[in-house]
Amino acid sequence: MPNRVLIALVCWTWLPCCSADEPPKSPARSLIRQPQTLVIAHRGDSAHAPENTLPAFRAAIRAGAELVELDYYHSADGIPVVFHDKTLGRTTNAKDVLGRGDLEVAKTRLQDLKRLDAGLWFDRQFAGTRIPTLAEAVDAIHPQATVLIEHKAGDAATCVRLLREKKITAEVVVQSFDWKFLRDCHRLDPQLTLCALSGQTPNEERLRQIQQTGAKVVAWNYRKLTPQHIRTFQQAGLRVWAYTVNDSTVAKRLVAQGLNGIITDQPALMKRELLPGTPGN
Ligand code: G3P
Ligand code: CA
Repeated sequence: MPNRVLIALVCWTWLPCCSADEPPKSPARSLIRQPQTLVIAHRGDSAHAPENTLPAFRAAIRAGAELVELDYYHSADGIPVVFHDKTLGRTTNAKDVLGRGDLEVAKTRLQDLKRLDAGLWFDRQFAGTRIPTLAEAVDAIHPQATVLIEHKAGDAATCVRLLREKKITAEVVVQSFDWKFLRDCHRLDPQLTLCALSGQTPNEERLRQIQQTGAKVVAWNYRKLTPQHIRTFQQAGLRVWAYTVNDSTVAKRLVAQGLNGIITDQPALMKRELLPGTPGN
């Protein structure tokens, strides 16, 4: 065998399968890289059930969403709880039960949050629905769909600890508008698949900051995304998702432009319109 062929063979054999920053393929990494457009249920199937509740998550799974998105804060006693707004009034009966609708989730203890009805505001058929903890929500979604966990507040260590306790760090995606939180998560567990959220106009500086977070996906306000932005992110190795797209004509245009994931309140509609013939239709 000629020497240069031997050297090439030896070098190839010694090359690690991935760089120090690039952990082996995980189920979440495989999911985000699949060529088919992902349908991501925003706060569950929130067009048909109260957002961020177990009925909404179950409906999203029935609709065939690949990922189910949820939002979380820490309660006053430090338990991650699934809720979108900073205050309780819009989607619970906190005004009747706790005397104030403007109470903050983060200043309310879990035992009081659990007294609230998080379904009645949406429809009487959902009366009695409770605010789930993050642990309860993950158990309801995983493994039927992949959980897209949006951090609204709280430290990275608590999030990573919960995912490790459940042994699902390789199987979920964690996203946040707070890119420092993403950097902290990446430092604690480089295996975690992270998604950087933004509603700002994409530019070079933002791309540079995103690359420092370890994120593999960006989820952007669809109104700020142009086909050129999508290409630029993808050329930088990122997958591109858009929120919150409920009009199937807009979704089809974005998919034609190369978008990788649609975050929507209407997962069944999107599955039907974008990917006819797939489960859930
Ligand atoms: O998944 C993206 C989207 O959820 C971000 O906005 O306000 O609905 O949490 P928001
Ligand atoms: Ca969200």
